[in-house]
Amino acid sequence: MALGAGCVDEKIVYRDGPNFAAPPAAAANFVGYDDQATKLTVCGNCHVGQQGKWKETKHAKAWQTLDANAGKQGLCQACHTVSNLGNAVTDTTVGWRSTKDVRYQDVQCESCHGPGLQHIGVPTRGQMLPSIKADTGRAVTNGCSECHSGSHHPFVEEWRRSRHATSYTRAYNGATATAPEVPNGPRSACQGCHIGQAVLANWGVNTNYTDKTFATNATGQGVTCVVCHDPHGSSNPKQLRYPVDSRDPENNLCVKCHNRRGNPDFTGSRDTPHAPHGPLLLGSAGWWPPGIQFDEAQSSHGSDKNPKLCAGCHLGKYDVRDKATNNFVVTVTGHRFTAIPCVDANGAPTADQSCTQITQRSFKSCAASGCHTEASARTVFTTTELDIKTLYTALDQQIAAGRANGKIPATEFVAGKVTTARGATFNSNLAKMHGSEVHNPFLVKALLRASLAQVQKDYGVPSPVPLSRLAPYDQLILKAPATN
Ligand code: HEC
Ligand code: HEC
Ligand code: HEC
Ligand code: HEC
Ligand code: HEC
Ligand code: HEC
Ligand code: HEC
Ligand code: HEC
Repeated sequence: MALGAGCVDEKIVYRDGPNFAAPPAAAANFVGYDDQATKLTVCGNCHVGQQGKWKETKHAKAWQTLDANAGKQGLCQACHTVSNLGNAVTDTTVGWRSTKDVRYQDVQCESCHGPGLQHIGVPTRGQMLPSIKADTGRAVTNGCSECHSGSHHPFVEEWRRSRHATSYTRAYNGATATAPEVPNGPRSACQGCHIGQAVLANWGVNTNYTDKTFATNATGQGVTCVVCHDPHGSSNPKQLRYPVDSRDPENNLCVKCHNRRGNPDFTGSRDTPHAPHGPLLLGSAGWWPPGIQFDEAQSSHGSDKNPKLCAGCHLGKYDVRDKATNNFVVTVTGHRFTAIPCVDANGAPTADQSCTQITQRSFKSCAASGCHTEASARTVFTTTELDIKTLYTALDQQIAAGRANGKIPATEFVAGKVTTARGATFNSNLAKMHGSEVHNPFLVKALLRASLAQVQKDYGVPSPVPLSRLAPYDQLILKAPATN
């Protein structure tokens, strides 16, 4: 049948069945390609939008990739073809595996959606629905994880240990929770970042899938593969729903969620940041005292020297080899999302990530940029961490002293009030967050120095570090507000 050339509207669905060759009975209702040479799937005759996008993905070339590889063997094929892997079918003698028919080569629609012969006969809504679950050990074995697992590509094994896998448990489940960005808003404000289904809805993905509805947070999903990756393909590399190199907070995959309370919200009562990583990296986070002068708010980590921004540090990919034998051990995919993971003797990230020594951490991602060696990055990290700790410790002491001697009265901390004391407290809490010393060390130091100066100025509580010693500390420092 005629297909609308270049048509990319996902909602265009034709109802007339294609005249495709009947699939072999042994395929167990999987239909595969209509025309293998042009990569036209039988499904794609009607679902024009998905077909057009999918054809450009690596899934559509999975067989070629395997076939061109010298190490290919029979056991490789199930993940590079249409089979029971990726969908709810558990019988292994289906699709490619039982027929070795070229129509089942590549990772096609049915890899994720399951066998389609009956649907094609009488297509209606609600059939063929896929899942957005990854294997979380929560009684699911289908989904991306059936192929994206194992020592060569342990995406799901790494992801499962990250907090993205369990974020649904930390979306407040009470009926009355409010969120500052939605005054008196419902708990759904939390879910829009913490629960996979709500994130997709928030981002305008209104397609249907088996796990779309959830009654409680406990039946929600975390930030699963399909939240970050568009299963049908995307104009961004790696099928990402949003790019990782954009400096527009609304259009950067990571910053879309890692951007809640980067600046103090004085209308509420909390002086703590919530996911400030995006604004900090890009140079807008924190409480900026009125006198602050700081021109280079964006550190080099947020500049085009680090084009992939968050992903450049948090998704380091490398192979681990045994130190003694040099045999391959495992590929690290970066889907544990740790920038400086705790590693074992071979350099493989450990399961628990609870190491206490800086020497037990790998700084490989830092070296990948070409700006640091692993050793120099480790040294800079250690000294910066110490510098920042010195400053926030001083600021905490200054605020505590002011509270103790009444120069900073308790009323300076009440909800709804805009005060220097609250702003400075926010900056101290921002500085204490894991990674702040890396996300933007210059801005963090500048904010702390300026806070010390502003608290001294406004409340007459002297800074434990004399202001005269703060100013020339480095060339980037703001000119501190008038020191009196
Ligand atoms: C003969 C045309 C045709 C073919 C071939 C076809 N579909 Fe459909 N499909 C439809 C129609 C029509 C609907 C109902 C759409 C609607 O009502 O909006 C549908 C619905 C669906 C839905 C459910 C959408 C929802 O919101 O409930 C999925 C998923 C789907 N198809 C996937 C597939 C897959 C995978 C294949 C290949 C195995 C396939 N379809 C082959 C016509 C087709
Ligand atoms: C468990 C499922 C599975 C099996 C079995 C499997 N692959 Fe793959 N293969 C994948 C996945 C998933 C990717 C994509 C990984 C990525 O992008 O990092 C992939 C990617 C590849 C690539 C391209 C990326 C690269 O690493 O160079 C090649 C080549 C490849 N596989 C060859 C093989 C060979 C050869 C075998 C058998 C020895 C094999 N595969 C067995 C799932 C599998
Ligand atoms: C049937 C096995 C299978 C299933 C199921 C599967 N994949 Fe893949 N995937 C592969 C293979 C094989 C490759 C590598 C293809 C190649 O390089 O030729 C791949 C490649 C990819 C890539 C790399 C794309 C790129 O441009 O580099 C992404 C991203 C991806 N898969 C995501 C997913 C997600 C998300 C899901 C679940 C919604 C999924 N895959 C389900 C086998 C599978
Ligand atoms: C704009 C997206 C977004 C919204 C909205 C959001 N969060 Fe978060 N939340 C995050 C991110 C990203 C993190 C990870 C921060 C980190 O690890 O530092 C996080 C972390 C958390 C944590 C763990 C904090 C910790 O220190 O361990 C809790 C608990 C939490 N959020 C609860 C909530 C609640 C309750 C709401 C609604 C009132 C909410 N979140 C709304 C994005 C959001
Ligand atoms: C890697 C797994 C994967 C592959 C391959 C895949 N899909 Fe999907 N499909 C999904 C998931 C997950 C969803 C639900 C989330 C979404 O739409 O992003 C979905 C949703 C759909 C829907 C529902 C749309 C709606 O409006 O509700 C249709 C139709 C569909 N896919 C058809 C196809 C067709 C046709 C192909 C092949 C050309 C295909 N899919 C390939 C995983 C996949
Ligand atoms: C929080 C977002 C996020 C989640 C969740 C996520 N990914 Fe990714 N993934 C990324 C980013 C970002 C990249 C690209 C990294 C880069 O370009 O360096 C990527 C890359 C990939 C690649 C390509 C790797 C390569 O080297 O070419 C595959 C395959 C992949 N992801 C599969 C998965 C699977 C499977 C899951 C679920 C188990 C998953 N991803 C979950 C963000 C995510
Ligand atoms: C859909 C929203 C969302 C997206 C997109 C997202 N994150 Fe997250 N991320 C979260 C939430 C929510 C948490 C906190 C989970 C919790 O503690 O409840 C989190 C936690 C983390 C953590 C802490 C991980 C751990 O296991 O301790 C890191 C690091 C992280 N994210 C990095 C990234 C990076 C890098 C990207 C982009 C590739 C990204 N995130 C994309 C929502 C998101
Ligand atoms: C220059 C490298 C670099 C960049 C760029 C970067 N990070 Fe980090 N990030 C780190 C380091 C190093 C840590 C500290 C890890 C630790 O303490 O275990 C960290 C810590 C974190 C944490 C806290 C993890 C934990 O264990 O509590 C989160 C969440 C996070 N980063 C998210 C992001 C997001 C989102 C972005 C992009 C807006 C980003 N990071 C950009 C290097 C980087």
